[in-house]
Amino acid sequence: MMPTTTISLIKADIGSFPGHSRTHPKILEKAARMLKEEEGKLLIDSFVTHCGDDMELIMTHTRGEDDEKIHALAWKVFSECTKMAKEMKLYGAGQDILSEAFSGNVKGMGPGVAEMEFEERGSDPVLLFMADKTEPGAWNFYLYKMFADPFNTPGLVIDPTMHEGFIFEVHDVMEKRKIEFRTPEEIYSLLAYIGAPSRYVIKYVRRKDGVVAASTSTQRLSLIAGKYVGKDDPVMIVRGQSGLPAVGEILDPFAIPFIVAGWMRGSHHGPFMPVGLPDANCTRFDGPPRVLCLGFQVCNGKLIGPADMFDDPAFDRVRDRCNELADILRAHGPFEPHRLSLDEMEYTTLPNVEKQFRDRWKPIPE
Ligand code: F6R
Ligand code: MG
Ligand code: MG
Repeated sequence: MMPTTTISLIKADIGSFPGHSRTHPKILEKAARMLKEEEGKLLIDSFVTHCGDDMELIMTHTRGEDDEKIHALAWKVFSECTKMAKEMKLYGAGQDILSEAFSGNVKGMGPGVAEMEFEERGSDPVLLFMADKTEPGAWNFYLYKMFADPFNTPGLVIDPTMHEGFIFEVHDVMEKRKIEFRTPEEIYSLLAYIGAPSRYVIKYVRRKDGVVAASTSTQRLSLIAGKYVGKDDPVMIVRGQSGLPAVGEILDPFAIPFIVAGWMRGSHHGPFMPVGLPDANCTRFDGPPRVLCLGFQVCNGKLIGPADMFDDPAFDRVRDRCNELADILRAHGPFEPHRLSLDEMEYTTLPNVEKQFRDRWKPIPE
């Protein structure tokens, strides 16, 4: 057995300024220092960044997925940084830390987790996607385009090593069950589920020979907490090239202006805008929902990079189109489909408004 490398991308919103706009640089510095101290011990390498109000911990190591020590380290960083955020009275300090006590794994406790363990190839490009103001199912559309749509990924047609297709592991986040779909033969069945991204979320994509190609975070905060505590703001790891989609095939779907759930109060549909790191800050209507992509080469667990992949004029046009969509949706004000459907509003503060009118409703005579 070749030794494996694991990438753990663990994120949390532990407080931001002003409001839900962005993380504070002093807190990112603290997190980066804490992870650096573990390099050569628990970790091989690390990088700390943010997307909007979410702090993103990127860690490489040899301990595999769901490792207690790695999760404990992430928990310690979030806890220490929460203390600092509370001292600074940052907004929503400690928001995603839903429990005081750590019990071996940060999953189900608030933070979002995407991890991937793999044998490094001769050269291994990896793209890390980080989103703010949306939910985990937001990745479904993009993963389908990358790994199952030959109009997006010509490699599926012309590269014999990709011709067999991929296996999508889909999680039902409501019923807590999972299923695998094989593509291309089951694309219609796959789409029947993943077209409903608030419930069905792609967790992994693997090549049919078992090579792991993509891994996402699937935590739904509202389902854990039973109420609205901020949007999940998911993350995703995608490996590329040499029998997997090329870096450019992975990025190309983001040139489509796609509408996701989230944005203001986690209650609105809005355009998912790809941005470079300098623009990974939410403003208009607490958004629009944003996605950042940092690219690395992985070399014996070391992260060579990052490259800020959406910091490029090639994505200017989709950003313009997203702004146009934002205008159109915003003009709907409190009306659907800008506002989410009633069943998705169940976890927001809307039911509290409805409660006040419960007794004023009268039956309509037959
Ligand atoms: C989005 C988000 C924000 C808040 C909004 C209201 O994920 O967290 O849009 O929902 O700013 O926040 P409160 O109720 O704290 O004033
Ligand atoms: Mg926040
Ligand atoms: Mg956020």
